[in-house]
Amino acid sequence: MSEYSIPLFDLNFDEEEEKAVVKTLRSRWISMGPRCEELEQMFAAMLSIRHAISTANCTTALHLAMRILQIEPGDEIIVPSLTFVATVNAVRYVGAVPVFCDIKGADDLNMDAALIQQLITPRTRAIMVMHYGGFPCRMDKIMAIAKKHDLKVVEDACHGPMSEFEGIKLGGFGDFGCFSFFANKNISTGEGGMIVTKNDDYAARARLLRSHGMTSLSYERARGHSTGYDVVDLGYNYRMDDIRAAIGMVQLQKLLPDLQRRVRLRDLYVEQLTSCDRLVVPFQAQRGFVSNYIFPVVLREGGADYREAVRKKMHAAGIQTSVHYPAVHRFSIYQSFRRKLPHTEFAADHEITLPLYANLSVDSVLQVCRTLREIVEEG
Ligand SMILES: Cc1ncc(COP(=O)(O)O)c(C=O)c1O
Repeated sequence: MSEYSIPLFDLNFDEEEEKAVVKTLRSRWISMGPRCEELEQMFAAMLSIRHAISTANCTTALHLAMRILQIEPGDEIIVPSLTFVATVNAVRYVGAVPVFCDIKGADDLNMDAALIQQLITPRTRAIMVMHYGGFPCRMDKIMAIAKKHDLKVVEDACHGPMSEFEGIKLGGFGDFGCFSFFANKNISTGEGGMIVTKNDDYAARARLLRSHGMTSLSYERARGHSTGYDVVDLGYNYRMDDIRAAIGMVQLQKLLPDLQRRVRLRDLYVEQLTSCDRLVVPFQAQRGFVSNYIFPVVLREGGADYREAVRKKMHAAGIQTSVHYPAVHRFSIYQSFRRKLPHTEFAADHEITLPLYANLSVDSVLQVCRTLREIVEEG
Protein backbone atom coordinates (compact mmCIF):
# COMPACT_ATOMS: atom_id res chain seq x y z
CA MET A 1 0.00 0.00 0.00
CA SER A 2 1.18 3.45 -0.81
CA GLU A 3 2.02 5.86 2.00
CA TYR A 4 0.78 8.62 -0.33
CA SER A 5 -2.84 9.64 -0.78
CA ILE A 6 -1.95 10.34 -4.43
CA PRO A 7 0.80 7.99 -5.63
CA LEU A 8 2.92 8.67 -8.69
CA PHE A 9 1.65 5.61 -10.49
CA ASP A 10 -0.83 2.78 -10.10
CA LEU A 11 -1.12 -0.44 -12.11
CA ASN A 12 -4.05 -0.74 -14.50
CA PHE A 13 -4.71 -4.31 -13.30
CA ASP A 14 -7.92 -6.19 -12.51
CA GLU A 15 -9.10 -9.83 -12.48
CA GLU A 16 -8.26 -10.16 -16.19
CA GLU A 17 -4.52 -10.22 -15.52
CA GLU A 18 -5.08 -12.71 -12.68
CA LYS A 19 -7.15 -14.99 -14.93
CA ALA A 20 -4.56 -14.84 -17.69
CA VAL A 21 -1.80 -15.85 -15.29
CA VAL A 22 -3.82 -18.73 -13.81
CA LYS A 23 -4.72 -19.95 -17.30
CA THR A 24 -1.05 -19.92 -18.28
CA LEU A 25 0.01 -21.78 -15.14
CA ARG A 26 -2.65 -24.42 -15.80
CA SER A 27 -1.49 -24.80 -19.42
CA ARG A 28 1.73 -26.16 -17.88
CA TRP A 29 3.88 -24.15 -20.35
CA ILE A 30 5.31 -21.19 -18.49
CA SER A 31 8.57 -20.29 -20.29
CA MET A 32 8.76 -18.72 -23.76
CA GLY A 33 6.06 -20.32 -25.91
CA PRO A 34 2.73 -19.67 -27.61
CA ARG A 35 1.79 -16.67 -25.47
CA CYS A 36 5.03 -14.87 -26.25
CA GLU A 37 4.38 -15.50 -29.94
CA GLU A 38 0.84 -14.16 -29.66
CA LEU A 39 1.98 -11.07 -27.77
CA GLU A 40 4.61 -10.43 -30.46
CA GLN A 41 1.98 -10.66 -33.19
CA MET A 42 -0.36 -8.32 -31.31
CA PHE A 43 2.43 -5.82 -30.72
CA ALA A 44 3.61 -5.86 -34.34
CA ALA A 45 0.02 -5.34 -35.52
CA MET A 46 -0.46 -2.49 -33.05
CA LEU A 47 2.61 -0.67 -34.38
CA SER A 48 2.00 -1.71 -38.00
CA ILE A 49 5.55 -3.05 -38.14
CA ARG A 50 6.83 -6.30 -39.65
CA HIS A 51 8.58 -7.82 -36.64
CA ALA A 52 8.21 -7.64 -32.87
CA ILE A 53 10.42 -9.89 -30.75
CA SER A 54 9.73 -10.15 -27.01
CA THR A 55 12.62 -9.80 -24.59
CA ALA A 56 13.33 -10.05 -20.88
CA ASN A 57 13.27 -6.25 -20.61
CA CYS A 58 14.15 -3.17 -22.65
CA THR A 59 17.78 -3.13 -21.52
CA THR A 60 18.33 -6.47 -23.24
CA ALA A 61 16.47 -5.18 -26.32
CA LEU A 62 18.83 -2.18 -26.52
CA HIS A 63 21.85 -4.45 -26.14
CA LEU A 64 20.56 -6.71 -28.93
CA ALA A 65 20.17 -3.66 -31.15
CA MET A 66 23.80 -2.69 -30.55
CA ARG A 67 25.03 -6.24 -31.21
CA ILE A 68 22.99 -6.71 -34.38
CA LEU A 69 24.11 -3.37 -35.80
CA GLN A 70 27.67 -4.58 -35.17
CA ILE A 71 28.56 -1.58 -33.07
CA GLU A 72 32.14 -2.09 -31.98
CA PRO A 73 34.63 -0.75 -29.42
CA GLY A 74 35.54 2.83 -30.29
CA ASP A 75 32.44 3.47 -32.41
CA GLU A 76 30.65 6.65 -31.38
CA ILE A 77 26.93 6.63 -30.64
CA ILE A 78 25.04 9.88 -30.12
CA VAL A 79 22.81 9.54 -27.04
CA PRO A 80 20.76 11.75 -24.74
CA SER A 81 21.86 12.23 -21.15
CA LEU A 82 18.37 13.07 -19.89
CA THR A 83 17.31 9.42 -19.93
CA PHE A 84 17.37 6.31 -17.82
CA VAL A 85 20.92 4.99 -17.57
CA ALA A 86 20.03 1.79 -19.47
CA THR A 87 19.91 3.72 -22.77
CA VAL A 88 23.57 4.61 -22.42
CA ASN A 89 24.70 1.39 -20.73
CA ALA A 90 23.67 -0.51 -23.86
CA VAL A 91 26.26 1.50 -25.80
CA ARG A 92 28.92 0.61 -23.25
CA TYR A 93 28.03 -3.12 -23.27
CA VAL A 94 29.58 -3.32 -26.74
CA GLY A 95 32.51 -1.04 -25.85
CA ALA A 96 31.26 1.90 -27.89
CA VAL A 97 31.60 5.56 -26.88
CA PRO A 98 28.48 7.48 -25.82
CA VAL A 99 28.53 11.03 -27.22
CA PHE A 100 26.03 12.96 -25.15
CA CYS A 101 23.72 15.37 -26.93
CA ASP A 102 21.92 18.17 -25.12
CA ILE A 103 18.13 18.53 -25.08
CA LYS A 104 16.30 21.37 -26.77
CA GLY A 105 15.30 23.11 -23.53
CA ALA A 106 12.83 23.13 -20.65
CA ASP A 107 9.85 23.14 -23.01
CA ASP A 108 11.17 20.26 -25.13
CA LEU A 109 13.11 17.68 -23.14
CA ASN A 110 14.10 15.63 -26.18
CA MET A 111 17.50 15.69 -27.91
CA ASP A 112 18.04 18.74 -30.07
CA ALA A 113 18.28 17.56 -33.67
CA ALA A 114 20.34 20.63 -34.63
CA LEU A 115 23.01 19.66 -32.09
CA ILE A 116 23.17 16.05 -33.28
CA GLN A 117 24.55 17.28 -36.57
CA GLN A 118 27.44 19.04 -34.79
CA LEU A 119 28.46 15.89 -32.87
CA ILE A 120 29.03 13.72 -35.92
CA THR A 121 32.63 12.59 -36.54
CA PRO A 122 34.12 9.95 -38.84
CA ARG A 123 33.67 7.45 -35.95
CA THR A 124 29.95 8.07 -35.49
CA ARG A 125 27.96 4.92 -36.27
CA ALA A 126 24.50 5.49 -34.83
CA ILE A 127 22.04 7.82 -33.15
CA MET A 128 20.17 6.46 -30.15
CA VAL A 129 17.08 8.56 -29.49
CA MET A 130 14.85 8.39 -26.42
CA HIS A 131 11.33 9.73 -26.77
CA TYR A 132 10.94 11.41 -23.38
CA GLY A 133 7.61 10.63 -21.73
CA GLY A 134 6.39 9.28 -25.09
CA PHE A 135 6.73 12.71 -26.72
CA PRO A 136 8.40 12.10 -30.08
CA CYS A 137 11.84 13.36 -31.00
CA ARG A 138 11.98 15.24 -34.32
CA MET A 139 12.24 12.06 -36.34
CA ASP A 140 11.97 13.90 -39.66
CA LYS A 141 15.17 15.82 -38.94
CA ILE A 142 16.93 12.93 -37.22
CA MET A 143 16.24 10.44 -40.02
CA ALA A 144 17.44 13.00 -42.57
CA ILE A 145 20.72 13.46 -40.66
CA ALA A 146 21.10 9.67 -40.37
CA LYS A 147 20.54 9.23 -44.08
CA LYS A 148 22.98 11.98 -45.01
CA HIS A 149 25.76 10.52 -42.85
CA ASP A 150 24.88 6.83 -43.29
CA LEU A 151 24.14 6.32 -39.58
CA LYS A 152 21.99 3.68 -37.91
CA VAL A 153 19.10 4.80 -35.69
CA VAL A 154 17.86 3.02 -32.57
CA GLU A 155 14.76 4.33 -30.83
CA ASP A 156 14.49 3.85 -27.10
CA ALA A 157 10.69 3.97 -27.20
CA CYS A 158 10.21 2.67 -23.65
CA HIS A 159 7.91 5.57 -22.86
CA GLY A 160 6.02 5.65 -26.12
CA PRO A 161 3.86 2.67 -27.11
CA MET A 162 1.28 4.05 -29.61
CA SER A 163 2.83 7.53 -29.61
CA GLU A 164 3.11 8.99 -33.08
CA PHE A 165 5.24 11.42 -35.04
CA GLU A 166 3.54 12.68 -38.20
CA GLY A 167 1.21 9.66 -38.21
CA ILE A 168 3.91 7.00 -37.79
CA LYS A 169 4.14 5.09 -34.52
CA LEU A 170 7.35 5.48 -32.55
CA GLY A 171 9.71 2.54 -32.85
CA GLY A 172 8.96 2.36 -36.57
CA PHE A 173 11.41 5.03 -37.75
CA GLY A 174 14.80 3.59 -36.90
CA ASP A 175 16.55 0.30 -37.54
CA PHE A 176 15.17 -0.85 -34.18
CA GLY A 177 12.58 0.32 -31.67
CA CYS A 178 12.91 -0.89 -28.08
CA PHE A 179 10.09 -0.99 -25.53
CA SER A 180 9.86 -1.71 -21.80
CA PHE A 181 7.06 -3.44 -19.94
CA PHE A 182 8.61 -2.69 -16.54
CA ALA A 183 6.07 -2.43 -13.71
CA ASN A 184 5.55 1.33 -13.98
CA LYS A 185 5.36 1.57 -17.77
CA ASN A 186 2.24 2.06 -19.95
CA ILE A 187 2.21 -1.72 -20.47
CA SER A 188 3.18 -3.50 -17.24
CA THR A 189 4.28 -7.12 -16.96
CA GLY A 190 6.70 -6.79 -14.02
CA GLU A 191 9.78 -7.15 -16.20
CA GLY A 192 9.53 -7.44 -19.97
CA GLY A 193 10.28 -5.75 -23.26
CA MET A 194 10.00 -5.82 -27.03
CA ILE A 195 12.33 -5.06 -29.91
CA VAL A 196 10.72 -4.14 -33.22
CA THR A 197 12.17 -3.83 -36.69
CA LYS A 198 11.15 -3.65 -40.33
CA ASN A 199 14.23 -5.63 -41.38
CA ASP A 200 13.83 -9.42 -41.82
CA ASP A 201 17.52 -10.19 -41.26
CA TYR A 202 17.69 -8.09 -38.11
CA ALA A 203 14.59 -9.85 -36.77
CA ALA A 204 16.10 -13.28 -37.41
CA ARG A 205 19.31 -12.18 -35.63
CA ALA A 206 17.33 -10.82 -32.68
CA ARG A 207 15.51 -14.16 -32.28
CA LEU A 208 18.80 -16.03 -32.47
CA LEU A 209 20.75 -13.87 -30.02
CA ARG A 210 17.80 -13.69 -27.61
CA SER A 211 18.18 -17.40 -26.97
CA HIS A 212 21.89 -18.32 -26.74
CA GLY A 213 22.45 -18.21 -30.50
CA MET A 214 20.64 -21.56 -30.70
CA THR A 215 18.95 -22.56 -33.93
CA SER A 216 15.76 -23.81 -32.20
CA LEU A 217 13.74 -22.97 -29.09
CA SER A 218 12.81 -25.50 -26.40
CA TYR A 219 9.14 -24.88 -27.22
CA GLU A 220 9.75 -25.95 -30.82
CA ARG A 221 11.62 -29.01 -29.64
CA ALA A 222 8.84 -29.91 -27.20
CA ARG A 223 6.34 -29.76 -30.07
CA GLY A 224 8.50 -32.22 -31.98
CA HIS A 225 9.32 -29.65 -34.63
CA SER A 226 12.99 -30.02 -34.06
CA THR A 227 15.08 -32.51 -32.18
CA GLY A 228 18.55 -31.04 -32.27
CA TYR A 229 20.08 -27.63 -32.45
CA ASP A 230 23.28 -25.88 -33.30
CA VAL A 231 24.76 -22.81 -31.61
CA VAL A 232 25.85 -20.41 -34.32
CA ASP A 233 26.54 -17.18 -32.44
CA LEU A 234 27.36 -15.94 -28.95
CA GLY A 235 23.85 -15.24 -27.68
CA TYR A 236 22.18 -14.65 -24.34
CA ASN A 237 19.17 -15.67 -22.35
CA TYR A 238 17.15 -12.52 -23.05
CA ARG A 239 13.80 -14.29 -23.34
CA MET A 240 10.44 -13.26 -21.96
CA ASP A 241 8.19 -15.99 -20.53
CA ASP A 242 4.59 -16.99 -21.15
CA ILE A 243 3.40 -15.87 -17.71
CA ARG A 244 4.47 -12.31 -18.44
CA ALA A 245 3.28 -12.52 -22.04
CA ALA A 246 -0.18 -13.50 -20.80
CA ILE A 247 -0.28 -10.38 -18.62
CA GLY A 248 1.07 -8.36 -21.54
CA MET A 249 -1.77 -9.43 -23.82
CA VAL A 250 -4.38 -8.25 -21.32
CA GLN A 251 -2.45 -5.01 -20.93
CA LEU A 252 -2.36 -4.48 -24.70
CA GLN A 253 -6.13 -4.83 -24.87
CA LYS A 254 -6.44 -2.08 -22.27
CA LEU A 255 -3.80 0.17 -23.77
CA LEU A 256 -5.81 2.46 -26.00
CA PRO A 257 -8.49 3.42 -23.42
CA ASP A 258 -5.71 3.77 -20.83
CA LEU A 259 -3.83 6.20 -23.08
CA GLN A 260 -6.98 8.12 -24.02
CA ARG A 261 -7.67 8.67 -20.34
CA ARG A 262 -4.08 9.88 -19.85
CA VAL A 263 -4.54 12.40 -22.68
CA ARG A 264 -7.55 13.88 -20.87
CA LEU A 265 -5.66 14.01 -17.57
CA ARG A 266 -2.69 15.73 -19.25
CA ASP A 267 -5.05 18.29 -20.77
CA LEU A 268 -6.41 19.01 -17.31
CA TYR A 269 -2.91 19.33 -15.85
CA VAL A 270 -1.91 21.71 -18.65
CA GLU A 271 -5.05 23.81 -18.17
CA GLN A 272 -4.42 24.09 -14.42
CA LEU A 273 -0.67 24.75 -14.52
CA THR A 274 0.05 26.67 -17.69
CA SER A 275 -0.79 30.05 -16.14
CA CYS A 276 1.67 29.52 -13.27
CA ASP A 277 4.68 31.65 -14.14
CA ARG A 278 6.95 29.65 -11.82
CA LEU A 279 6.58 26.56 -13.99
CA VAL A 280 7.25 25.38 -17.52
CA VAL A 281 4.92 22.65 -18.77
CA PRO A 282 7.02 20.95 -21.47
CA PHE A 283 5.83 19.70 -24.84
CA GLN A 284 2.90 22.08 -25.22
CA ALA A 285 3.61 22.43 -28.94
CA GLN A 286 3.01 18.69 -29.34
CA ARG A 287 0.14 17.78 -31.69
CA GLY A 288 0.09 14.02 -32.50
CA PHE A 289 -1.13 11.18 -30.27
CA VAL A 290 1.13 10.64 -27.25
CA SER A 291 1.28 7.86 -24.65
CA ASN A 292 1.85 10.27 -21.73
CA TYR A 293 3.99 7.84 -19.79
CA ILE A 294 4.65 10.64 -17.29
CA PHE A 295 3.62 14.24 -16.67
CA PRO A 296 6.74 16.40 -16.20
CA VAL A 297 6.91 20.03 -15.12
CA VAL A 298 10.06 22.15 -14.91
CA LEU A 299 10.60 24.84 -12.27
CA ARG A 300 11.70 28.09 -13.91
CA GLU A 301 14.41 28.70 -11.33
CA GLY A 302 15.76 27.70 -7.94
CA GLY A 303 18.16 24.80 -8.47
CA ALA A 304 18.23 21.20 -7.30
CA ASP A 305 17.96 22.01 -3.56
CA TYR A 306 14.89 24.15 -4.12
CA ARG A 307 13.37 21.41 -6.31
CA GLU A 308 13.92 18.88 -3.50
CA ALA A 309 12.31 21.28 -1.00
CA VAL A 310 9.26 21.56 -3.27
CA ARG A 311 9.05 17.78 -3.62
CA LYS A 312 9.36 17.39 0.15
CA LYS A 313 6.38 19.69 0.67
CA MET A 314 4.41 17.76 -1.96
CA HIS A 315 5.22 14.52 -0.15
CA ALA A 316 4.16 16.03 3.18
CA ALA A 317 0.83 16.80 1.48
CA GLY A 318 0.52 13.12 0.54
CA ILE A 319 1.52 13.55 -3.11
CA GLN A 320 4.26 11.36 -4.52
CA THR A 321 6.55 12.85 -7.16
CA SER A 322 9.65 11.73 -9.00
CA VAL A 323 12.49 13.09 -11.13
CA HIS A 324 13.06 12.09 -14.77
CA TYR A 325 16.01 12.01 -14.82
CA PRO A 326 19.28 12.55 -13.00
CA ALA A 327 21.54 13.29 -15.99
CA VAL A 328 23.53 10.23 -17.06
CA HIS A 329 26.68 12.21 -17.91
CA ARG A 330 26.92 13.26 -14.25
CA PHE A 331 27.06 9.68 -12.93
CA SER A 332 30.47 8.58 -11.63
CA ILE A 333 30.77 5.84 -14.23
CA TYR A 334 30.28 8.32 -17.09
CA GLN A 335 32.81 10.96 -16.00
CA SER A 336 35.19 10.26 -18.86
CA PHE A 337 32.39 10.93 -21.38
CA ARG A 338 31.22 14.12 -19.73
CA ARG A 339 30.64 17.24 -21.81
CA LYS A 340 28.80 20.54 -21.41
CA LEU A 341 25.03 20.01 -21.56
CA PRO A 342 23.47 23.14 -20.04
CA HIS A 343 19.83 22.41 -20.93
CA THR A 344 20.07 18.81 -19.73
CA GLU A 345 21.63 19.93 -16.45
CA PHE A 346 18.96 22.57 -15.96
CA ALA A 347 16.18 20.02 -16.55
CA ALA A 348 17.86 17.43 -14.34
CA ASP A 349 17.92 20.00 -11.49
CA HIS A 350 14.47 21.53 -11.99
CA GLU A 351 12.15 18.81 -13.32
CA ILE A 352 9.42 17.29 -11.17
CA THR A 353 7.27 14.37 -12.34
CA LEU A 354 3.69 14.56 -11.12
CA PRO A 355 1.29 11.61 -10.64
CA LEU A 356 -0.21 10.18 -13.83
CA TYR A 357 -2.00 6.89 -14.50
CA ALA A 358 -5.27 5.89 -16.10
CA ASN A 359 -7.23 5.54 -12.86
CA LEU A 360 -6.08 8.85 -11.41
CA SER A 361 -9.17 10.92 -10.59
CA VAL A 362 -9.91 14.43 -11.81
CA ASP A 363 -10.12 15.54 -8.17
CA SER A 364 -6.65 14.18 -7.54
CA VAL A 365 -5.21 16.13 -10.50
CA LEU A 366 -6.88 19.29 -9.21
CA GLN A 367 -5.46 18.65 -5.75
CA VAL A 368 -1.95 18.07 -7.11
CA CYS A 369 -2.12 21.30 -9.13
CA ARG A 370 -3.51 23.33 -6.24
CA THR A 371 -0.82 22.03 -3.88
CA LEU A 372 2.03 22.58 -6.33
CA ARG A 373 0.88 26.11 -7.17
CA GLU A 374 0.58 27.01 -3.50
CA ILE A 375 4.10 25.73 -2.81
CA VAL A 376 5.84 27.43 -5.74
CA GLU A 377 3.86 30.66 -5.59
CA GLU A 378 4.37 31.20 -1.85
CA GLY A 379 8.02 32.18 -2.00
C1 LIG B 1 14.03 5.42 -21.21
C2 LIG B 1 14.26 4.06 -20.69
N1 LIG B 1 15.17 3.26 -21.28
C3 LIG B 1 15.40 2.01 -20.85
C4 LIG B 1 14.73 1.50 -19.76
C5 LIG B 1 15.05 0.12 -19.31
O1 LIG B 1 13.94 -0.72 -19.43
P1 LIG B 1 13.89 -2.09 -18.63
O2 LIG B 1 13.69 -1.78 -17.19
O3 LIG B 1 12.72 -2.80 -19.23
O4 LIG B 1 15.17 -2.81 -18.88
C6 LIG B 1 13.78 2.29 -19.09
C7 LIG B 1 12.99 1.88 -17.94
O5 LIG B 1 13.19 1.15 -17.10
C8 LIG B 1 13.55 3.60 -19.56
O6 LIG B 1 12.66 4.42 -18.97
